[in-house]
Parts: sequence; C-alpha cells; structure tokens
Amino acid sequence: MKKRTIRPAKTLSGGVEPPGDKSISHRYAMLAALAEGTSELRHFAAAADCRSTLECMKALGAEVKFDKDTARITGHGLRGLKSTRRALDAGNSGTTMRLLAGILAGQAFSSQLTGDSSLQKRPMKRVVGPLREMGADIRAREDNFAPLEIRGGLLHAIDFQMPVASAQVKSAVLLAGLFAEGETSVTEPARTRDHTEIALEEFGATIENHGKTIRVRGIASGNGSARLEARSLDIPGDLSSAVFFIAAACMFPDANLLIHNVGLNPTRTAILDLFAAMGASLQMLSVRSAHGEIVGDVAVKGATLKGGVIEGPQIPLVIDELPMLAALGPYTEQGIEIRDAKELRVKESDRIAALAENLRRMGATVAERPDGLRVEGRQAGKLRGAEIEPRGDHRIAMAFAVAALAAKGPTVIRDAECAGVSYPTFFDEFEPVTET
Ligand code: S3P
Repeated sequence: MKKRTIRPAKTLSGGVEPPGDKSISHRYAMLAALAEGTSELRHFAAAADCRSTLECMKALGAEVKFDKDTARITGHGLRGLKSTRRALDAGNSGTTMRLLAGILAGQAFSSQLTGDSSLQKRPMKRVVGPLREMGADIRAREDNFAPLEIRGGLLHAIDFQMPVASAQVKSAVLLAGLFAEGETSVTEPARTRDHTEIALEEFGATIENHGKTIRVRGIASGNGSARLEARSLDIPGDLSSAVFFIAAACMFPDANLLIHNVGLNPTRTAILDLFAAMGASLQMLSVRSAHGEIVGDVAVKGATLKGGVIEGPQIPLVIDELPMLAALGPYTEQGIEIRDAKELRVKESDRIAALAENLRRMGATVAERPDGLRVEGRQAGKLRGAEIEPRGDHRIAMAFAVAALAAKGPTVIRDAECAGVSYPTFFDEFEPVTET
C-alpha cells in the first residue's frame, strides 16, 4: 500500500483538466452495450470504477475496446446481452452494481453480481425492493447485501415513490423500466443527478421528465420497434474530481487556477453555488452544451471562505463533495456543519467516521453526529500534518491531501492509491499546480 507525503504549500496556480465524469461514463458504457452498433465514448473516465463497468459489459457480450481515453463499445441491441457463467464483479463501484442490477432484472437469464469488501457492506435493498416489485426474482445476502443473484424475466412497470434521494436507485428502476411492460415512473423526494435521463434520451429511449417524476416507456409493451442507437459522444470532465482542486485554490489568497472542460450539469453544480455563497471567487467560462450535458471551464481565485451549514435538499446535490467540504472546515471562518446526511455512512466508507477521525488526527475540533458532523472553523495555523487513514475511500484520501496543503508540517496519506477509484492521476496532477 503506497503512502504519499503532502507538504504544506504556498499557493496554487496553473491549469488542470479533470478526468471524464464517472457517473456519465458508467451510463454511456451501459447504454452503448444495449445499443445497436459501435459507440465511441471520448474522454471516458479513467476511474477504476468505470473499468469495472466496462469489464461487466464485456462479460455480458458487448465488444469493448479502450484506447487512451476513448472507449469503443459495440452493442447488439436491447435484447443482445448474454448470460455469463462467472459472477460479474463491480469492484468498489456502487453505481456499477446498482445500475446493472436494474438492467439484469430485465434479462431473460440469471446473473450474479458481486464486488469488493467495501461494496459488499453497502445496502442493496434499496434497489432490490423496487426491482422485486417489478417482478424480478433477486436474492441478496441477508436480503440486503452483495453478492446478488438476479433471476431476470418479464418485468411490469411500477410507479415508484423513491424513499431515499438516490440517483443510483432512480437509475436502476428506470433502466429496468426500459425492459418492462408499460410505463415506469420514479418520483424522487429531492432532486438528484439526472445523467441517466439525459443519456437515455441521447441513445434514443422514450423518456419524460415532469419535475421530480421521470417516466420511461418499456420495450415489452407494444413498443417493439424501440431501440437504442450507437452514439459518438464526448464526456465532460468530472466536477466532483475538479472540486478537490477548486477547494485547494480557495485556501490560498493569491491562488489562480483554471479547470478546463468540466461538467456543469445543474444537478451537479450545487457545490459551486455553495462555494460562491461562502465567498469563493469562481468564474465559469466558455460554457457550452454537449449531448444534453453542459460543459465549461472554471476559473478559481483564492478567497477567505465563510463556512456554514449544509443540510436538507442540498445534501443529495453535493453528496460526493461533502468529504472535501468537511475537510476544509477548519480553514473557514464559521466552520462547516453537515446535517441530514446519514447517507454518508454507507458510501465507500463510513465517511462521517472517517472524516471525524482524520480531522482529529490533524488537530481539528469535530463533533460527530449520526447524520453529519460539525467542524470548528478558525483553525488555520493550528492544524498539523498527520498520518491519514483513508479507509480505502478515494474521496477521503483526496480531501485530506488538500487539507494537508495548509497544515503545519507534512501529512502522510496511507494507501493513497485508493484515489484511483475515481482519479488515478490525482497526485500527478496535484503536484505541478502546488507551489511548496
Ligand atoms: C452516483 C450517485 C450518488 C453518488 C455516487 C455516484 C451516480 O450515489 O454518491 O458517487 O453515478 O448515480 P447515490 O445515488 O446512492 O446517492
């Protein structure tokens, strides 16, 4: 397990281009495997998670070639997937497992889905429940955890009122709905990222969006001519990866950083609004649209961040950025308080516990709560470098690499390679823009 040492920095400057968006890459790869013909997906995420999706789609019969950052996927249509003898391995990726469960529920064969030890601890009942309602026969360990055994078959449409605000659950039901008889709808309790809806439309599915309700027409309902078409697509950079650089630049008054080609889908940009509300200096440049998604450059200048409370419907919109926000807490004026975020406990790690533990290692004052945490502000100059234990969680490793830049003395990130789950070149790109 490779350690990385991060030394305090004076400032940040230069330019960064984050890897392709992880959420969009998963969806394009799955839909390309269900389409007819060869799709070309440029700037496909380098993330290990998306490699897991590519491997699964390959095992299910799609031809997959990955060269530099372009994935070429040949699908054989909505009825073109084949059964596999071996269990499909989603690795560390919750998105792979949950979205694929939706697709597999609608196939005329049985499959097994498994993942690494972290993924095997994450709740799957949230997708298993609605997929069973649609008619799938699914077995799960303790009725909630992977490995999953999915006996797919003819599904019927449901109107699903989603109890947790989860884009993965919404997507699993919509993808199953694609194979069902009738029109499936999902109503979310709060907005979550809408890449599945956008991608489904892009590949040619019939989908409607009415506020928080999304409907998809299934192919098993006299919609026999329904097909997905191969597409040639450019994937925007991942804003959730860019956020580590944005946060880093915010910590140094004379920092000046340009983030190129980053996804600015409005269901993802709440983090930029939050930074701006806290006093960050951000400017969006060259904003353009790309296959239903929005892309642009973001210029960041250093500023003093106020901090504040993040809660309620804001939470699902910044769910992946909460580790970075919490780790910035000590450097803000009022500190950072996160409420209503018990979902953080069932991510790649228990992120509330991981944040509290590592912040304390650096000397921060933290109150841990069941659904969030409060990190005291005005600790700049007091935080010290420490040995960070990321618990195998990519976002914890990267958040503390950033927090370490403004601490006293060096910080060691244990098992720093886990950053590769979303951002394999993070540390290589981090060094050239940090002036130590
Ligand atoms: C994702 C949705 C979010 C997010 C995850 C990626 C997606 O999970 O945390 O990193 O691609 O749909 P939930 O939908 O479970 O909150």
